[in-house]
Amino acid sequence: MSRLIVVSNRVNPPADPGLGSTGGLAMALAAALREYSGVWFGWSGETTEHFTGQIRMQRVGGVTIALVDLEEQDRLEYYNGYANKTLWPLFHYRTDLTSYERSFDEGYARVNRRFAETLVPLLEPDDLIWVHDYHLIPMARELRKLGVKNRIGFFLHIPWPARRLLTTLPKHRALVETLFDYDVIGFQTEDNREAFEDYVIHEAHGSVAGPGRLTAFDHTVQVDSFPIGIDAQGFIEAAKSDEATQQFDRMQTSLAGRRMVLGVDRLDYSKGLEERFLAYEQFLIDHPEQQEDVFLLQIATPSRDEVEAYQEIRHRLDGVAGRINGEFATVDWVPIRYVNRGYRRDQLAGIYRAADVALVTPLRDGMNLVAKEFVAAQDPEDPGVLILSRFAGAADQMTDAVLVNPFSREDMSDAIRRALAMPLTKRRMRWERLLEGVKRDDVNAWRDRFVAALRGPPPEAANGD
Ligand code: G6P
Repeated sequence: MSRLIVVSNRVNPPADPGLGSTGGLAMALAAALREYSGVWFGWSGETTEHFTGQIRMQRVGGVTIALVDLEEQDRLEYYNGYANKTLWPLFHYRTDLTSYERSFDEGYARVNRRFAETLVPLLEPDDLIWVHDYHLIPMARELRKLGVKNRIGFFLHIPWPARRLLTTLPKHRALVETLFDYDVIGFQTEDNREAFEDYVIHEAHGSVAGPGRLTAFDHTVQVDSFPIGIDAQGFIEAAKSDEATQQFDRMQTSLAGRRMVLGVDRLDYSKGLEERFLAYEQFLIDHPEQQEDVFLLQIATPSRDEVEAYQEIRHRLDGVAGRINGEFATVDWVPIRYVNRGYRRDQLAGIYRAADVALVTPLRDGMNLVAKEFVAAQDPEDPGVLILSRFAGAADQMTDAVLVNPFSREDMSDAIRRALAMPLTKRRMRWERLLEGVKRDDVNAWRDRFVAALRGPPPEAANGD
């Protein structure tokens, strides 16, 4: 059986399944790889003075990982730079936060080349190579230049933007061209796949070569949507663990009979946290009689803190949370509990279970796995209600959630009221349907579908190399 070689910027399988943090990609890949013999290759997160290409192999939590150090300049230009100051904001529709700097392009190209050169000696002819996310779009191009003939697939965890937005990126065509060195390209949603097709047809003068196949730049690739899932069984078990139960009991005590509205996110401007705080404030204004009966617990785990836009959003959120608390709090009630740290997965499961309502309201999100984890952690006797942004990829599948427009405070305030008032029978009905989907479309189904596509026969129109 062929090995699966997974390549991603961040490689951090949890040492035990109870651990793990927010950040969907790492958790999903760890779960996916545990079932396959293979290697997970990527950046160690460390820097060294001179790049050596030396690999450190380790075995962590049942997964073989291969790590390589980068240089400080790589971290600045590739990770902080092109990945997180150019592609991330642009692909999340924030051209106002997007930097278009040439040095970032060079750093991005250099690191993709370095990754490819380092990976080649590890490869065997039968290996299936699966590259992940926006940090590594040109990986296949670099591998092909080095003579790699293996099947290579790419999965984008974040949204693919509308054509008009992508064309604001200098050299956008060259970037898209590199994708045509893959055999399979996967997106989270149909909407993303369509946006890609639209670009290929109108900007790259490409064409549809058959069902799920696009031709451009003299290459044909298979393109499909593969919505990612969670390790549903693992999460359901984590929610029943001692650690989760302890955390649940702790929450129950601290609730003191109040109802909890919960948010759990990486501290990122795409997550709509400021809009969420303001919508919750709107709810407090609209329903003064409920004020002291409810609170919002927002866990926001700091992320990418060397990038200015992340420092700014953190600062803004401190201000908004502080202002709302100052304005509404009483001596024994604080409307927003705002927490800037990460939690273990099993503790999170206990916190999810104690919540009456989850607010998952990103302005844009590739999928959003918190929505799925929240559902998996609920108590069947008394499940909470999921409020979900229409602009999260998860909204395509999770139509039994209360779907909202995260840009509208009134909309979200109404949704919070409805969710808190929803009778048990209705909550159960919606939750059961949601859980069924979360279990069926789990991380294993996602991996198996992608790997089957990756194994599949090469397209008839041969890749012209
Ligand atoms: C998103 C991205 C991942 C990334 C994660 C955490 O889920 O799609 O590629 O790993 O955020 O971000 P970080 O920059 O800490 O890896």
